[in-house]
Amino acid sequence: MSDYAELNLDGNSYQLPIIEGTEHEKGLDISKLRATTGHITVDTGFKNTGSTQSSITFLDGEKGILRYRGYPIEQIAEKSSFLEVAYLLIYGQLPSQAELDQFMTSIKEEWLVHEDIKTILTGFPADSHPMGVLSSLVTAQTAFFPESLDPYRSAEKVNRTIIRLIAKMPTMVAWAYTRSKGRMSNYPNNELGYVENFLKMMFSTRAQEYEVDPIIKDAMDKIFILHADHEQNCSTSTVRIVGSSHASLYASIAAGVNALWGPLHGGANQKVIEMLSHIEENGGDVGKFIDKAKDSDDPFRLMGFGHRVYKNFDPRATILKKSADQVFEKLQIDDPMLDIAKHLEDVALKDEYFVKRKLYPNVDFYSGIIMKAIGIPIEMFPVMFSIGRLPGWIAQWKEMREHQEPIGRPRQIYVGATERDYVPLDKR
Ligand code: CMC
Repeated sequence: MSDYAELNLDGNSYQLPIIEGTEHEKGLDISKLRATTGHITVDTGFKNTGSTQSSITFLDGEKGILRYRGYPIEQIAEKSSFLEVAYLLIYGQLPSQAELDQFMTSIKEEWLVHEDIKTILTGFPADSHPMGVLSSLVTAQTAFFPESLDPYRSAEKVNRTIIRLIAKMPTMVAWAYTRSKGRMSNYPNNELGYVENFLKMMFSTRAQEYEVDPIIKDAMDKIFILHADHEQNCSTSTVRIVGSSHASLYASIAAGVNALWGPLHGGANQKVIEMLSHIEENGGDVGKFIDKAKDSDDPFRLMGFGHRVYKNFDPRATILKKSADQVFEKLQIDDPMLDIAKHLEDVALKDEYFVKRKLYPNVDFYSGIIMKAIGIPIEMFPVMFSIGRLPGWIAQWKEMREHQEPIGRPRQIYVGATERDYVPLDKR
């Protein structure tokens, strides 16, 4: 096989090198295209554009494969913990016990947040959307740690910023949540692990200590693990491009939170619950809504079914389905909305329309119903996604800076007015 592609343009022939990845994905290197041919490529939405060469996450949507640093997601979800996965994504290898202990110790040194964060929090209306609050609080960290603004700070200082982000994000999320409920903030407890500590900070009140059920902790841990990275998605590409201008890591991550906020990205799990409650409010007739979803003249779709990349099955959904079953059994939940979800899943998995189009329940279907069962408010769903995605964003930012990638600056084909003379106001 040739290691270049030939491009014939205006009677000239150009050779475009072919780049092949370790999993045999192939790409045409067009980095010199404009300089040699005067042409650029156009690819709105970057559907055919590789923005980088990365060694963090591999995914094959046709085969339903997702691997972090080469490790299959199924093995990771079964055997690992979110913190170990964070270490793996950021530093490139699984930690030894001593490395993992040191990682946790460093996080505990940093998981308190500055008391003045509360002053910022009280400035927000209590019903502010938590994603907006979170991105503001992450940006605000630059004021508390101004050395993070120095793009040429030492690797050790960069690492401190990384630890601070992983450590402080759950505390900021929990404080934003308790504030929205008008409750006092809870503080991190060094006796607890990462996920357990987070759940306690979210749900404990002065009157009642929240008891963390191991099954719920495990389900939350899995949700975080399964969301930890998904290669060059919208929010990750945002983090990389903001970071490419040498903006601080906090600013880059805050941009990632904002990108994730959109309903086409991190908001889908919220849409699942909204759809279930809509079905419930309209009499709970699942068959009627399945028919609506199948009707090409009806815009209604089953939220949490289908995926742009996974055209066989979503490996993350397969793992979370098991967790969902465990959580429901353990909690003995009597919620008509969850009954509707189960019914919908059963019918859709057998119905020819969905089977033929490979429309399986996706990760958002199960993460949505698990978080609902655990008692996480719907508007907090994308916030949970942010905590999960944080190590991936950091790993991708770090890789981009270590590779000294240039500032991200796409080009365009201009289609506006050609040159014309300015018309004074009184002549228009
Ligand atoms: N309900 C009913 N029909 C559907 C659905 C659905 N959820 N999804 C796709 N279809 C049909 C669609 O109407 C089309 O039918 P036909 O061939 O007869 O015209 C066929 O399936 C292919 O659909 P498509 O829109 O070409 O597929 P896509 O790859 O462009 O869309 C999707 C993928 C995820 C946007 C879509 O499946 C969808 O809207 N799902 C519901 C929303 C959802 O759950 N989104 C979260 C995805 S996971 C997010 C993440 O990983 O970050």
